[in-house]
Amino acid sequence: MTKDKILLSRAKIVATGSYLPDNVVTNRDIEKRVDTSDEWIMERTGIRERRIARKNQASSDLAYEASLRAIKKAGIKAKDIDLIIVASVSGDMPFPSTACLLQDRLDASNAAAFDIAAACSGFIYGLSIAENFIKSGARKRILLVGVETLSRLTDWEDRTTCVLFGDGAGAAIIEASPDDSGILSTHIQSDGSLWDYIKVPAGGSRIPCSKESVEQRLHYINMKGNETFKVAVKTLENIALEALETNKLKASQLTLLIPHQANLRIIQATAKRLGLPMEKVMLNIEKYGNTSAASIPIAMDEALATGRIRSGDYILLEAFGAGLTCGAALIRW
Ligand code: ACO
Repeated sequence: MTKDKILLSRAKIVATGSYLPDNVVTNRDIEKRVDTSDEWIMERTGIRERRIARKNQASSDLAYEASLRAIKKAGIKAKDIDLIIVASVSGDMPFPSTACLLQDRLDASNAAAFDIAAACSGFIYGLSIAENFIKSGARKRILLVGVETLSRLTDWEDRTTCVLFGDGAGAAIIEASPDDSGILSTHIQSDGSLWDYIKVPAGGSRIPCSKESVEQRLHYINMKGNETFKVAVKTLENIALEALETNKLKASQLTLLIPHQANLRIIQATAKRLGLPMEKVMLNIEKYGNTSAASIPIAMDEALATGRIRSGDYILLEAFGAGLTCGAALIRW
């Protein structure tokens, strides 16, 4: 293969890894804290339980475990990585970036490292950045991690949000493809006019931390769930169709849809609009809840481990989240 050909290569996910904290919190556990029920949560969200990070675990710890697994599967060393991208809205601290903390833990001393904040769409935003770094030839081997410890931003007295989220991390190693398999296209969109739908109001420069901000519970996730739900279904359909049309593919040619795991009803409605049977949809929301930026790489890692993705398959990723942001990626595995 000539050098020119390598520079124009597609980007390819060559290995994945994931990590879920071992601490399981069930709907029955949450029933003891707020006025809710296992039946309501299952019926309205499809979530039965979620993993919550231990007190001594921050996002970089989860990211580290998932990264080690991906690095091992890729058969590389951390020093072979030349870029680390961490997608998260629940990093260890406002700065430095969680990507730099992860670089230190991994001893990936040859990498540049930065974070991106696109909430639940973060992994696809990161994939889009990684794809373009590889395609341009600017980087050769990228570690992309989606990680969240949203449990730390969750108001455990607010039944409308505390039932939804979970903690976890998923990682991918991305390199130039040696053939025509790999990432066919990535699609990202934002609608900042709807920034108010999902937010953590305080802790930034608008409302710095104060006694009042803590008393008013402004450091927790605040969400207009019902309004978000309606926008999500339509937006996800549109971006999925854009990805299919760009590649002149029909939904029936997909082997698997790997959606962001926010709500089973959103996933079912999107699949129905695309004409996809649920057998072709990767689901693990029942076990892990909404792990935001981590949900797609965790689901992808599980799909690979359980033989649901094979060489040559067309795989569609799609996500929607705070911002509002959305994204899709079409991959020929
Ligand atoms: N248990 C029992 N009752 C509840 C609970 C609960 N945990 N939560 C809400 N209710 C009640 C409400 O108070 C309301 O009662 P009322 O009618 O007496 O006022 C009723 O249930 C219905 O509430 P809705 O908000 O209309 O419920 P909905 O069916 O919309 O489900 C949910 C709520 C699950 C949050 C849904 O709207 C949703 O999933 N939205 C999208 C979330 C999403 O995709 N977010 C994007 C990603 S998040 C990120 O980016 C960080």
